[in-house]
Amino acid sequence: MLEVSGLTTRYGAISALRDVSLSVGAGEVIGLIGPNGAGKTTLLGSIAGLLAPAEGTVSFDGKTVTGLSPERMLRAGLALVPEHRRIFTDMTVEENLKIGGVTLRASERTGLLNEMMELFPVLSDKRDTPAGFLSGGEAQQLAIARALMSKPRLLMMDEPSLGLAPILVDLVFDLIGRLREAGTTVLVVEQNATRMLDAADRAYVLRSGEVVASGTGADLLARSDLFDTFVGGH
Ligand SMILES: Nc1ncnc2c1ncn2[C@@H]1O[C@H](COP(=O)(O)OP(=O)(O)OP(=O)(O)O)[C@@H](O)[C@H]1O
Ligand SMILES: [Mg+2]
Repeated sequence: MLEVSGLTTRYGAISALRDVSLSVGAGEVIGLIGPNGAGKTTLLGSIAGLLAPAEGTVSFDGKTVTGLSPERMLRAGLALVPEHRRIFTDMTVEENLKIGGVTLRASERTGLLNEMMELFPVLSDKRDTPAGFLSGGEAQQLAIARALMSKPRLLMMDEPSLGLAPILVDLVFDLIGRLREAGTTVLVVEQNATRMLDAADRAYVLRSGEVVASGTGADLLARSDLFDTFVGGH
């Protein structure tokens, strides 16, 4: 479904990504792990159209989409929940969700809104609350729900459990499990490497802008040379 090939992205003279290739098949949950500064956010941004890669290609459903705008990526079915949940703080929870579903027909949007209220009860309780009043964990749930409102065929999430209380971290992994069961295709960056390896079908390990390993959780956990990445380096 998603094919990234030979991607290099630079910030001025710094190459934050070097010749990165990865693939995500329909219905797969893929983890992306690696230490701080490895290039994980840069990779999601380069796929989602927020950053322009210097070299390489991104193809989605067999079509080359390298360098398209984030809006066109979203319309193509590719949604990103960014690292710092960018929700509209002056708008209510419900208004934020409706914006997520802006490309849908009104009836479909209402149906999906109700689904999100069931999936995230805390959002249902606060549907008329301005999003700026939500706690960190509630805001993260809103950011994920808003991305799901676009009915993405590929959902990308950048550190969805970052800064959340343990019970909300459980909720995020529970949600990833449910998305997987529902056949949603997911690419997720996680600090919590061992849990991510458990939740994902496969994972890629990024270090200093390069893919240094990939495989199933069992494959990667057996690699003692990657131990530092899993325990120490987030
Ligand atoms: N806007 C920017 N301008 C210049 N350099 C940047 C910029 N954003 C990131 N970098 C650099 O690119 C590299 C990769 O950063 P990136 O944010 O992609 O890493 P990351 O794996 O997401 O890290 P973290 O786990 O801390 O979120 C780092 O060396 C970082 O300093
Ligand atoms: Mg990051």
